[in-house]
Amino acid sequence: MQRRDFISGSIALAGTTLIGTQLMSHSLPPPPVKAVGETDEDYWNSVRALYARPEGFINLENGYFSHQPASTLEFHQQSEKDINTRTSVFMRKEQQAAIETARSSLAGFLKCDGEELALLRNTTEAMNIVIMGFPWKKGDEVVLGNQDYGSMTEAFQQAAKRFGIVLKYANVPLRPGSDEEVIQAYTRLFTRKTRMVHLTHLINLSGQVIPVAKIADQAKELNIAVAVDSAHAVAHLEFGIGDLQADFVGASLHKWLCNPLGSGFLWMRKEFIPSLWPLMGDTSQPVNNIRRFEHVGTRPIQTLQCIPESIAFHNKIGSSLKERRLRYLMQYWTSKVANVPKIKLNTPWKDITRCGAIANIAIEGYTPGKLAEILFSKYRIFTVAIEHPAINGVRITPHLSNTIEDLDALVSALTEISSG
Ligand SMILES: Cc1ncc(COP(=O)(O)O)c(C=O)c1O
Repeated sequence: MQRRDFISGSIALAGTTLIGTQLMSHSLPPPPVKAVGETDEDYWNSVRALYARPEGFINLENGYFSHQPASTLEFHQQSEKDINTRTSVFMRKEQQAAIETARSSLAGFLKCDGEELALLRNTTEAMNIVIMGFPWKKGDEVVLGNQDYGSMTEAFQQAAKRFGIVLKYANVPLRPGSDEEVIQAYTRLFTRKTRMVHLTHLINLSGQVIPVAKIADQAKELNIAVAVDSAHAVAHLEFGIGDLQADFVGASLHKWLCNPLGSGFLWMRKEFIPSLWPLMGDTSQPVNNIRRFEHVGTRPIQTLQCIPESIAFHNKIGSSLKERRLRYLMQYWTSKVANVPKIKLNTPWKDITRCGAIANIAIEGYTPGKLAEILFSKYRIFTVAIEHPAINGVRITPHLSNTIEDLDALVSALTEISSG
C-alpha cells in the first residue's frame, strides 16, 4: 500500500465513531520525514521505540505472536473499557456495526471483497472450517505439505478418519534450487481423485516461502481446490488475496499485523460459501452469506475493533518497506554465522524471494531443545526449539520491535556456543 493510502486511511480512522462513544485513534507514529530504507537504523529505532521492550531478555520468538505497539495496546484497553461501560447494549445493538467496520478495513488491506471475508479468532479456526466443512466424498484425495502446521495436519488426519479422505504428503525441500522443485513436490501427487491441495504460504518451521500462486495455477487446471494457510505471510510479505490464486486463505492477525491476541480471518471464494459446512451450526444466515462462518458465540469484540488501528500502524511503514526490513533482519544475522564451523542454516536464507524474517539454525552437538535452553538461560535470548521429522533446529524470529544490537547479541552467542 502506498503512503498516500495510509494518509487517507488514518484520517478516516481518526474520525471513526463507534456507536455510542468516540473511540479515537491516537499515538500513531509520525510518518517518516524522508524516504527510508531497510537499513536506516535511526528510523527503525524510532519504530522500535513505539513497542514496550521485554525486561530482562531479548525476544526473538515473535512467531508465536507479535506484541502490539503501545498505541494499539492503549486503543485495545480503551475499547474494552468502552464495551464494559456500554454493557449489553453494545453487544445487542452495536457489536455488528463494529464487526462490519473491521471487515471493511481488513478487506481493503487484503484487497478482497468483504463479502468473502469471515472474521475469526485465528488461523486454526479458519482452516478447520475448511478442512471439517468441505463437502468431502469417501476416497477424495488431499495433497498437503510435510512441513504444514501441526494443527492443520491433525485436522486433516481427523477428517481422513471421519470422511474417508486420503492424505498424500509432499516432501518440500529445505533449500530448493528453484520454484520448480517445490512445485513438483506437490504436483507429482495430483491425480484424478485430488480434491484439495493445502499449502503453507510461509512455513513456520523454517521460514521458507512457498510459490503458492504457481502451484495453485496447476491445481486449477485439474479443478483442485486450493487452501492456503497464510498465518505467517499476512502483514509480513506484501501481497493481496487475489495474487495467491487460491480458493481459501486463512490467517491470524496477532502475528505479523501485531493486532491483539485472538484475531484472524478466513477468506473464501464466493462460490464455495453455500457448499461448506460451518464449524458451528448456523441457520440464522442465508447459505450464501459469509457471516454464517462467524457463529462462534460471545467473543471479545475489542480485538476486532483494533483491526483498523493495527492496519493504520502497518500502513504507516508500508507493506513493501516492512517486508524489506524483515528480510534484512533475517539476512543480517544469518550472513554472519553461515560460515561458522558446526553451524547449519535450515532456511534458504540467501534467496530473498524464498524467505521473510524467520530462519532456523542448528549447531552440531546440540539438540534444538538444548540450544534454545542455553540461549535463554545463559544469554537471555528467547527463541523456540523445533523438533520435527523434516527439520531440527532453533527458530529465530525478529520483528520491528527488535534492534540490530539484539541480532549482534545473537550472533555472538551462537559463535561462542559453536566454538565451545
Ligand atoms: C503456519 C501456521 N499456521 C497456523 C498457525 C496457528 O495460528 P493460531 O494459533 O493463531 O491459530 C501457526 C502458528 O504459529 C502457524 O505457524
